[in-house]
Amino acid sequence: MPNALPPARRAGEPGKGTMTSLSAPIEIIRPEVIEFGSGTIAAVARFARGKGVRRPLVVADAFNAARVDLLALPGEVTVFGEVKPEPDVPNLEKALGVARAARPDLVVGFGGGSAMDLAKLVAVLCTGEQKLADVVGPDKVAGRSVALVQVPTTSGTGSEGGIRALVTDPATRNKLAVQSRFMLADLAVVDPDLTMSVPPQVTAATGVDALAHCAEAFTSRKAHPTIDLYALEGIRLVGRYLGRAVKDGADREARAALSLASLYGGFCLGPVNTTAGHAVAYPLGTRHHIAHGLACAVIFPHTLAFNMPAVEAKTEAVLEALGAPATRNPAAAFDAAYKFCADLGIEMKLSALGVPADDLGAMADEAHAIRRLLDNNPRDLGRDAILKMYQTAF
Ligand SMILES: NC(=O)c1ccc[n+]([C@@H]2O[C@H](COP(=O)([O-])OP(=O)(O)OC[C@H]3O[C@@H](n4cnc5c(N)ncnc54)[C@H](O)[C@@H]3O)[C@@H](O)[C@H]2O)c1
Ligand SMILES: [Fe+2]
Repeated sequence: MPNALPPARRAGEPGKGTMTSLSAPIEIIRPEVIEFGSGTIAAVARFARGKGVRRPLVVADAFNAARVDLLALPGEVTVFGEVKPEPDVPNLEKALGVARAARPDLVVGFGGGSAMDLAKLVAVLCTGEQKLADVVGPDKVAGRSVALVQVPTTSGTGSEGGIRALVTDPATRNKLAVQSRFMLADLAVVDPDLTMSVPPQVTAATGVDALAHCAEAFTSRKAHPTIDLYALEGIRLVGRYLGRAVKDGADREARAALSLASLYGGFCLGPVNTTAGHAVAYPLGTRHHIAHGLACAVIFPHTLAFNMPAVEAKTEAVLEALGAPATRNPAAAFDAAYKFCADLGIEMKLSALGVPADDLGAMADEAHAIRRLLDNNPRDLGRDAILKMYQTAF
């Protein structure tokens, strides 16, 4: 049956390069409650008291561990405050050790994506028999018996709204992805005031991560109208406000807009997810410890332009939403996306970020093997095309 509904906007018009099908099935799951806005941090303590929580465990990076009192949690509070950026398996094991000793009835992820992802894994692995190796992949987690609250303090990953957690395996240097509805928060508290202290460089990189989630989901083979509107609005918010927040971290309106963009990016991840941009970015983090957002920013123009011939109208819509001139020319799209990132002060050269030239081939092999993302890319991306992107970005 042909689609009965007219397209909502030009960007979503069916036609060349548009994967969206109005009749494709999709399952959307979100945290049971999402609190958004200035001052909503108070909802964390309210939730804990309402549940009669006695032994909360906070999973945080060092910055947020130092201000854990802001959560005002009741009971005997344990803090694991050693979450590392881009956490690895030993970091998770350490957190699990603390959790097994504390026997929490509530786990609170308090920080950026690194803390929230570890909190998800701690919440499902701190009781029961399952180990990390048992749950890697989709739908392997058996269940969860402790409550889970997520409190983002960066604006980028949208992990608070999603069902995935990523942790690096130091042996293989791969990101292990665990996906489960049991890792969905009972409560996500998105209080933009918590992001005011994020330094400009982290603000820029995490903001482009949110942008990449939206842009990649919007142009994915799995793109869907129920998600497209969040993707486009997330891109608009980043386009309008990221420069402001980088320039002036005290700009509360910009901070709130980016918190929303990040949440919308999270809505894109669950049912649709990212594509080549993230696959090509991952080896930068796992092999060379480049922060996730920064890695995504360096790669963003390359995959956007490469994909353009397969998703022309949608790529043009991404650029328009970002506030860049509309174009159907991949080279012009590359320049516009590159300029957007570079104008934020982001270092866009792999060589300047410490990536050695002789590792580009191994990075391309590794990125090409991330089939869970590349198989949904709108245009087939071979290993040599990935290598060419790294060489151009070098
Ligand atoms: N689960 C998902 O769906 C998902 C999506 C995207 C990324 N990720 C993962 O998230 C991780 C990256 O998360 P991130 O980009 O938020 O970075 P992060 O959590 O590693 O934090 C970056 C740095 O900012 C600091 N920081 C955090 N909040 C701050 C604040 N308010 N003020 C000052 N400093 C603050 C942290 O201490 C850290 O040093 C990666 O491991 C990535 O793979 C997960
Ligand atoms: Fe990301």
